[in-house]
Amino acid sequence: MNQENRVALITGANKGLGLETARQLGKLNITVLLGARDSSKGETAAKKLSAEGIDARALKLDVTSAGDRDAAVKFIEKNFGKLDILVNNAGIAVEGGWGGNKTSSTPLQTLQQTFETNLFAPVALTQALLPLLRKSHTARIVNLSSIMGSLTLHSEPKSPIYGIKPFAYDASKAALNAFTIHLAHELRDTNIKVNSAHPGWVKTDMGTDAAPMDIEEGAKTSVALATLTDDGPTGAFIHLGKALPW
Ligand SMILES: NC(=O)c1ccc[n+]([C@@H]2O[C@H](COP(=O)([O-])OP(=O)(O)OC[C@H]3O[C@@H](n4cnc5c(N)ncnc54)[C@H](OP(=O)(O)O)[C@@H]3O)[C@@H](O)[C@H]2O)c1
Repeated sequence: MNQENRVALITGANKGLGLETARQLGKLNITVLLGARDSSKGETAAKKLSAEGIDARALKLDVTSAGDRDAAVKFIEKNFGKLDILVNNAGIAVEGGWGGNKTSSTPLQTLQQTFETNLFAPVALTQALLPLLRKSHTARIVNLSSIMGSLTLHSEPKSPIYGIKPFAYDASKAALNAFTIHLAHELRDTNIKVNSAHPGWVKTDMGTDAAPMDIEEGAKTSVALATLTDDGPTGAFIHLGKALPW
């Protein structure tokens, strides 16, 4: 696909997978809007990418803020009149120490906080941006999920995640996967594709230095789903080109 004149919004793009996804999309000549809840961090990240020859602009966007979401929609409408790619990348994992299983004592507040950022915010942002995505010839929505959202693998004693059960994070990503499936179904007769990405276990602030994958490799799944050709999948859960079980 010719990526010229395409515009992408990546949330949580001031660091980690979001920043690298913006970099890789930018290198394909896509204009990248770097969503960041801290404006100065967003500006610093955008300057870094601009210095690499990328058309990068910072956008103040705390995804949990309705006001920021509205302002982002207005900014994109005014400056571009459409949106081609939305990468719902911003995410949090607030349950410290992923060893053990504390499901029975997970505070509701932890669930609420996690769902606010990992589910309600991407749902609300996507809904608000859909009119602009519909104006693109080929729009792509990428929801940053995780293998930790796979209910099939959580139930399988032989799977690598069987013994790791941070309930709030896992449930938020499983719910985000439900959003992917439901929205993809609603949009199945349009030119908008909606997919969930599992980046891998990646060396970021969230993934920690213990992770085996570097950030460059980790961003590849998001970039591939953001630039799918028209014969690509929709309503899928993908890691490096392969489907994961829901
Ligand atoms: N790293 C992994 O191994 C891994 C594995 C599977 C899935 N994922 C998913 O991949 C995505 C990116 O993760 P990462 O590893 O790059 O994490 P990260 O290094 O912790 O970066 C997370 C990004 O999200 C932003 N963010 C958090 N809450 C936000 C909010 N309310 N509004 C706007 N931005 C917000 C952070 O901004 P601040 O800098 O302001 O905090 C940061 O830019 C997440 O959805 C994560 O669940 C990661």
